[in-house]
Amino acid sequence: MTDATLDLLRTRRSVAARDLVEPGPDEAQLEKLLEAGLRVPDHGKLGPWRIQIVDKNGQAALGDLYARLFAETYPDPRPEQIELERKRPQQAPLLLIVWSVRQAGHKIPEFEQILSAGAVCQNLLLAAHAMGFAANWLTGWPAYDTHVKAALGHARDDIAGFIFVGTPTAQPEDRPRKSVAQVTERWSGPVEI
Ligand SMILES: Cc1cc2nc3c(=O)[nH]c(=O)nc-3n(C[C@H](O)[C@H](O)[C@H](O)COP(=O)(O)O)c2cc1C
Repeated sequence: MTDATLDLLRTRRSVAARDLVEPGPDEAQLEKLLEAGLRVPDHGKLGPWRIQIVDKNGQAALGDLYARLFAETYPDPRPEQIELERKRPQQAPLLLIVWSVRQAGHKIPEFEQILSAGAVCQNLLLAAHAMGFAANWLTGWPAYDTHVKAALGHARDDIAGFIFVGTPTAQPEDRPRKSVAQVTERWSGPVEI
């Protein structure tokens, strides 16, 4: 691994979707981003994921759906809250939805299939960073809403992440992170039970 690649892994930071602006990836860049995104470990070669590319029309339609569902769910929503929901999927130039498409009852445990979809999300973040863009992995209520999932044509699957991609307006300060020492432990045996 080159120092540059290692630095990329060590310095990646999310940029809030609301701070991502045009330009987003063009078609050739999108293809590269998706290729990198899909190069993940996948026990059993099941390919337990799908990626939806949501263009501007799709983002607007999804925003209208969020606004409608929000207004139906809460008794007296304020208009600005509804507008925030409408904007939610339209914040960045590109929205990718990573689906965990699992096979139940398969000999590969579902947990491992889900992990592989998480790896797709992380690869997309890293690839976006490598290409000079920034990205944000979000879920929020729409990821768990049955109407949203059905409207997107995946009623039986799960949303691993909404991945927003664009050009960052500013690089955020890093956030406090766990140190290596805080989250690692060494184990050398012996086994006592
Ligand atoms: C599965 C998953 C879902 C997430 N959903 C949200 C979310 O809905 N809202 C949010 O503010 N951050 C969410 N995050 C956290 C951000 O993606 C991000 O990790 C966080 O802002 C810290 O930035 P960093 O990537 O630079 O550490 C989620 C992370 C994961 C792994």
